[in-house]
Amino acid sequence: MKILTCGKGGCGKSSVTALLAIELEKRGYEVIVVDNDESNFGLHIQLGMELPKDFALHFGGKRMVAEKLLKSKEGGRFSVFNDGIRASDISEDYMSKKGRLNLIAIGKIRDFGEGCACPFNALSADFLRMLELNKGEFALVDTDAGVEHFGRGVEAGCDLILMVIDPSQESIRLAEKVNKISEGAGKPLYYVLNKTDDETAEFLLDSVDQSKVVSVIPEDKRVFRNCLVGEALNFELKGIIELADFLERKTNRER
Ligand SMILES: Nc1ncnc2c1ncn2[C@@H]1O[C@H](COP(=O)(O)OP(=O)(O)OP(=O)(O)O)[C@@H](O)[C@H]1O
Ligand SMILES: [Mg+2]
Repeated sequence: MKILTCGKGGCGKSSVTALLAIELEKRGYEVIVVDNDESNFGLHIQLGMELPKDFALHFGGKRMVAEKLLKSKEGGRFSVFNDGIRASDISEDYMSKKGRLNLIAIGKIRDFGEGCACPFNALSADFLRMLELNKGEFALVDTDAGVEHFGRGVEAGCDLILMVIDPSQESIRLAEKVNKISEGAGKPLYYVLNKTDDETAEFLLDSVDQSKVVSVIPEDKRVFRNCLVGEALNFELKGIIELADFLERKTNRER
């Protein structure tokens, strides 16, 4: 199953992605984490992994990806892949590994004035569409803040969207927007309430479509601390166990 994590800036997308990846790996799944955030460099640290080379470099870099993208406007469907691709096809330069955890970073903005990140999102969309998962594999896609990646169709190759909602009006409003987008894309959407306490969890449950909430994760000092000092999020959290249980049930049902 391919799962896309989205939400407003700082709501905990990367933390949830890393915690979930580590939990699923512990359960024996092969997990392919796709870092689709061109700006931030934290996900590999939250996973306790090395940052691989940008996957875009495998195709000659951002400019080459953009050129292929432009050609696609003249007809044909944009793809840098000739065929379906499996995680095992990707060389270790572009995919770092730790146990059954695998990490791909689509591309990072590194230099001042190097242009927009559109080609990275286009490459992500292409990759996720072409990625073929084996039985017992999960792909978890961590996105940049907001909804830009939806405009590039990154969600099209995914089976399910997880929106992380923190206690803020921005998140509550964004939930409605993402709901409409996911309906338009025909993708199931589920909410993860994050950084909550009893009071804020109750408020959020009253404010969003409760039937979509699959996990409630309290504010937890360990998450904050490990992100601050740069250590992996390799501890158990009840909300993440609930989330992994839900996703396991979903994949088993779909088989
Ligand atoms: N459940 C939690 N409890 C405490 N702190 C949390 C929790 N989840 C996330 N945080 C903290 O919130 C901050 C933002 O988290 P994170 O980087 O995962 O968010 P993000 O949505 O990926 O951000 P960005 O939009 O910048 O990519 C970090 O300092 C992290 O430690
Ligand atoms: Mg992030």
